[in-house]
Amino acid sequence: MFAVYAESISQDDPLTGLVLDERPDPEPREGWTAVTVRAASLNHHDLWSLRGVGLGEDALPMILGCDAAGVDEDGNEVVVHAVIKDPAWAGDETLDPKRSLLSERHQGTFADTVLVPSGNVVPKPASLAFEEAACLPTAWLTAYRMLFTQGGLKPGDSVLVQGAGGGVATALISLARAGGLRVYATSRDESKRERALELGAHQVAESGARLPEKVDAVMETVGRATWSHSIKSLRPGGSLVISGTTSGPNPDNAELTRVFFLQLRVVGSTMGTRAELESLVNLLDVSGVRPVIDQVLPMTEALDGFRAMAEGDVFGKIVFTR
Ligand SMILES: NC(=O)c1ccc[n+]([C@@H]2O[C@H](COP(=O)([O-])OP(=O)(O)OC[C@H]3O[C@@H](n4cnc5c(N)ncnc54)[C@H](OP(=O)(O)O)[C@@H]3O)[C@@H](O)[C@H]2O)c1
Repeated sequence: MFAVYAESISQDDPLTGLVLDERPDPEPREGWTAVTVRAASLNHHDLWSLRGVGLGEDALPMILGCDAAGVDEDGNEVVVHAVIKDPAWAGDETLDPKRSLLSERHQGTFADTVLVPSGNVVPKPASLAFEEAACLPTAWLTAYRMLFTQGGLKPGDSVLVQGAGGGVATALISLARAGGLRVYATSRDESKRERALELGAHQVAESGARLPEKVDAVMETVGRATWSHSIKSLRPGGSLVISGTTSGPNPDNAELTRVFFLQLRVVGSTMGTRAELESLVNLLDVSGVRPVIDQVLPMTEALDGFRAMAEGDVFGKIVFTR
């Protein structure tokens, strides 16, 4: 089958290890189902994998991709849940120490077919196109859990989303607005700020600019570049929810004094559960909210999508179709 896979790892030049070519079809496996991929979406995770983060040399060659929507062995249209738990684990799979994401231990979704545990598919409503559904399992699920589970936000609360252009950030803005929150967003880029307003942000600001009010929660995926501003933007007792560090993990100033003096909470968040993915899919079905898609490319042109993400030249999700 056709696949987009990592053949080697390079910290400095990750795209050199990316190959588009034939790979063997997955072997049938008891309790797993083969999903024919109709659409898959790119995440920063795929670039991290090519840099060797979460992907060892011993696991190569590895088909990349966490996210997909397609058709399962019984002909059902499904969204794939990317978190693979240990079969012995019960409860919230994001807390399973042995969990992995598709493309880390098990072959990923950038292929004609992906094999997943039968419990790792969620019905796709007819109202969602395959391209839209393929955006949900990583970036949108992460945003959903950040806001409503780890952030505990309720209608009427206020939230700041840092780095408005990213896949998670655009999901955060759309879902926060749909959830009845007052939404602030920052971006370094004027045109991305404009688009954040169109998406539903009530107010936008340049990265680092003072907001008109202190917020109940900040959603962080940028890391080093925005950390200090995130902490300074919180009201006393507010929460910073972090799921990523695109600009690096070591802030110049961790603002520890503010953290204890203002009794702030710093909460990590990673992916989400199958149940949360199902709730997210239902939310989109009934609300009409849809993922922002930067570009849709045939999977055979995936290299262009990887390049755009590596250059940061993206607003919303990059989707590959078969
Ligand atoms: N924990 C999880 O489960 C999970 C799930 C999904 C993603 N993630 C992580 O979350 C992060 C976001 O991923 P993504 O795929 O949404 O998109 P991304 O491409 O990593 O995010 C791009 C955004 O980051 C902002 N940014 C990058 N460098 C910056 C800098 N130096 N200063 C200020 N802003 C900067 C930019 O915002 P502006 O250009 O608008 O300023 C840009 O739009 C990644 O690190 C990813 O690994 C984690």
